[in-house]
Amino acid sequence: MTDAPHTERTLILVKPDGVRRGLVGEVLRRVEAKGYTLLAVELRTADEALLAEHYAEHEGKPFFRPLVDFMASGPVLAVVAEGERVIEGFRVIAGATDPTTAAPGSIRGDLGRDWGLAVTQNLVHGSDSPESAEREIKLWFPGL
Ligand code: TYD
Ligand code: MG
Repeated sequence: MTDAPHTERTLILVKPDGVRRGLVGEVLRRVEAKGYTLLAVELRTADEALLAEHYAEHEGKPFFRPLVDFMASGPVLAVVAEGERVIEGFRVIAGATDPTTAAPGSIRGDLGRDWGLAVTQNLVHGSDSPESAEREIKLWFPGL
C-alpha cells in the first residue's frame, strides 16, 4: 500500500474473444464502476506489425505467433483509462493470465473459458508497469 496519491494511465484491450462474445460493455462497466476515467476508446482491427510491437517482450516464445494471429483475428477494443494506481488495479480486475485459475470476481475468472485454447484467449490485456503503459499507449494512441 502507498499513501501518496498516484494517478496514472494504462492501456486496456478487450481482445477479439471478448469482442466476439459481446463483453465490451461488461469490461467497460467494471472499469467505470471502479472509478477509473476513460480517456480513449476505439474499436479497431490491429495489424500484425502493431501486435508484434505490442507483444515484443514475448517474441521468440512458442506462444508468440499464435498470440499475434489470434489478436489479429478480429476487432479489439483499445482503451486508455486513468485513475489512482490503475495499472496494478486493472490487472487485479482482469485476474490471473490463465482463465482456468483466475480468481472469481475477476474478468478472466468470471467470464474466461477454457475450451482447450490454452491461455491465449483470456479476454483482456492490461499494461503491467508504468514503462509498459507509456510504451503501449504511444503505440495504440500516438496522439494522446
Ligand atoms: P503475459 O504478458 O505473460 O500475460 P498477461 O496478459 O497476463 O500480462 O502474456 C501475454 C499474453 O500471451 C497472455 O495474455 C496470453 C498469452 N499467453 C499464452 O498464450 N501462453 C502462455 O503460456 C502465456 C504465458 C501467455
Ligand atoms: Mg503481459
